[in-house]
Amino acid sequence: MKVLLIFAVLCIMSIESTEIHKYIVDKWSSLMQPHKEFCIKESNVDPEHVHQMLRKGYKLDVPQFHEYMRCMYVKLGMLSEEGEFQELEILKKADYLNYNLLKKCIKQATHEKNHSKKSYKLCECVIKGLEDPCSYTV
Ligand SMILES: *[C@@H]1O[C@H](CO)[C@@H](O)[C@H](O)[C@H]1NC(C)=O
Repeated sequence: MKVLLIFAVLCIMSIESTEIHKYIVDKWSSLMQPHKEFCIKESNVDPEHVHQMLRKGYKLDVPQFHEYMRCMYVKLGMLSEEGEFQELEILKKADYLNYNLLKKCIKQATHEKNHSKKSYKLCECVIKGLEDPCSYTV
């Protein structure tokens, strides 16, 4: 009972603050860093969008950003050239990701044929999940 209550309080707190934890922001930035320049060029994305992605990422529903995410996932080995998500590679690199959340998000994105849109869908779902841990822990 006590545990449930604590959990409920933590959940409410995390819903109220939609900011993603600093550890995750820093980790994701350092993962992207080596490929950022390449993928910004390849996708023609507005570099400002990339800076904002963790805070407003899921609202950046524009083709250039879809393409940027595809480029990044491929570079990181998280998406194969054939468009299959590489679960183990994702979990290894993005160590803040909860397996249930990843599973749920892959499931949501998997039917999308277009690799860029597919990448964006995964990104969107993960960001939503990270902002609201209650959506996948229970
Ligand atoms: C796939 O989606 C991207 C980004 O939304 C778009 O720019 C591209 O034209 C699409 N490709 C195909 C083959 O439909």
